[in-house]
Amino acid sequence: MIEFKSKEFHIKRIANCISEEIKLRQKFDQHLVLGLATGSTPIPLYDELVRLHTEENLSFRNVYTFNLDEYCGLEDNHPESYHTFMNVNLFDKVDIPRENIFIPSGQIEPLFERDYCEGYEQTIKDLGGIDIQILGIGRSGHIGFNEPGSSVDSITRKVKLHDITRRDAASDFGGFDNVPTHAITMGMKTILSANRIFFMAFGEAKQEITKRAFCGEITDDIPASHLQKHNKKTICIDFNIN
Ligand code: PGA
Repeated sequence: MIEFKSKEFHIKRIANCISEEIKLRQKFDQHLVLGLATGSTPIPLYDELVRLHTEENLSFRNVYTFNLDEYCGLEDNHPESYHTFMNVNLFDKVDIPRENIFIPSGQIEPLFERDYCEGYEQTIKDLGGIDIQILGIGRSGHIGFNEPGSSVDSITRKVKLHDITRRDAASDFGGFDNVPTHAITMGMKTILSANRIFFMAFGEAKQEITKRAFCGEITDDIPASHLQKHNKKTICIDFNIN
């Protein structure tokens, strides 16, 4: 389903859906597994989830989270790491148990990367898979850090970042050359295995690539285009903002 509504509408709707699902699982003493994204797109969603926690007593005690990706070479506490991003924007502000949080490490020795990535996949499976996956899109067409050429069968692994992705991150890192060249990302298969997906694209800069992803052919050149095949997704779009 593609929905052209305001960004505010989308954010409230996604947050309410997550909140209702968390509460429903609490009633039955079950957990909920969320797949989480970073970047500017999901920040208002995390703000709304924090508001639901602080003002409406939504508890995250039965929630597990798996983040999509992390830059290789960054310590967890690096200001631009996705560990820091998640702590600042969500985890430090809600009551999720720390042991329920999973974010790929950017600090794995090359020799152990493969085992580490397989372990990440296994942990997701052991918890019953991702119930709700939150996604943005990069101007390269990536979801997570699955850059052009990523196969639909790919699982969590180390990848080389596209130049567009590194250029878009350059200002955060004080220059293109400071942006890490590689990352660990959940794979396409991992993402597409999520039970439900909320995809968000806000602002004019995302219009062209989103159109190619959802109105063009399904191709590894635009990894997000594979979302066309997912049967429980909501495409939340608002291009009329900057
Ligand atoms: P953005 O990044 O939300 O900062 O635009 C999205 C992405 O690269 O997936």
